Amino acid sequence: MANILAIETSCDETAVAIVARGREILSNQVASQIETHARFGGVVPEIASRQHLLALNPLIRTALAEAGLDWDGIDAVAVTQGPGLVGALLIGVSAAKAIAWALGKPVLAVNHMAGHIYANMLAGPVRFPLVCLVVSGGHTELIYMERDLDFRLLGQTRDDAAGEAFDKVARILDLGYPGGPAVDRLARQGSDVLDFPRALLEEGSLDFSFSGLKTAVLNYCHNVRQRGQEVNKADVAASFQAAVVDVLVQKTAQAVRQLRPATLLAAGGVAANSRLRAALAELARQENVALGIPPPELCTDNAAMIAAAAWPLFASNRHSPLSFTAVPDLDLAAVVENC
Ligand code: KG4
Ligand code: ZN
Repeated sequence: MANILAIETSCDETAVAIVARGREILSNQVASQIETHARFGGVVPEIASRQHLLALNPLIRTALAEAGLDWDGIDAVAVTQGPGLVGALLIGVSAAKAIAWALGKPVLAVNHMAGHIYANMLAGPVRFPLVCLVVSGGHTELIYMERDLDFRLLGQTRDDAAGEAFDKVARILDLGYPGGPAVDRLARQGSDVLDFPRALLEEGSLDFSFSGLKTAVLNYCHNVRQRGQEVNKADVAASFQAAVVDVLVQKTAQAVRQLRPATLLAAGGVAANSRLRAALAELARQENVALGIPPPELCTDNAAMIAAAAWPLFASNRHSPLSFTAVPDLDLAAVVENC
């Protein structure tokens, strides 16, 4: 059957999934810590580690029960090795190694960003070569793949990640944490009437920059409030979101025109954004390229995506030694070298 039990604890979601053949989700459990961290306005690393410790074992039992399996039904254990918060990662890595050792089954160390990209494979086969726009809380990258687990970096952010910009603007607008979904919702009630900057950088570059946009939003709100006026939060949200999406889509379009991939993918938490999804659909139609974006619940952190990325490692016997450990700044290029 080839059932992979996957564990994800890199940030503020404790997640466990059981996936058959890297494709069929038998259980996908996510215990969010959002409420715990919300009152601090962001993730507190020590608290995240403790919460993972409390949540993990019950979540594994729930996943096995939902999948209708006992331990004999598990063929391999996959876990996020990095990037992420080291204390948080270590909870998942220790649990995965202990389970794999006790069961005498292989353990597969998975890169979190590879997981985000492979969330797309849960929907069905994807044709290579592909370009993937990866947009999460910590990363904004354009990746080119000619085959499984072969990641070429085309461009990346030089400062803030797209998700980070959403979270910071949400904080400026007092929308709470995490900011992305709140900005997305509020933007629907506003209009893109404020002319925020779009940093396109040098001609030909596929890199991104969002810190200037964040500062422009901050300055705008500050100036309006100093004049004793009220900020129209919905218009700020809509205009900011339009600026981020414009840049993401323009750079993605440039990569598609240069490389002419068979498939265009998007991945990561920001790929749940409604305006980005619509704009990428329009781009794919114009450029006549197949488009894949995971359903919103598989864009944000989950463990099914970790099982999906572990599948090609499992299928080609590239198991990890039990001596592997968490790597908080793990690079995508290390995915294959690590095995
Ligand atoms: O991929 P992810 O769940 O975690 C990381 O690996 O970072 O991404 C989380 C990020 C957060 O910054 C969150 O605000 C953003 O994704 N996000 C969104 C939306 N949903 C989540 N940003 C914009 N629109 C959304 N609907
Ligand atoms: Zn993530």
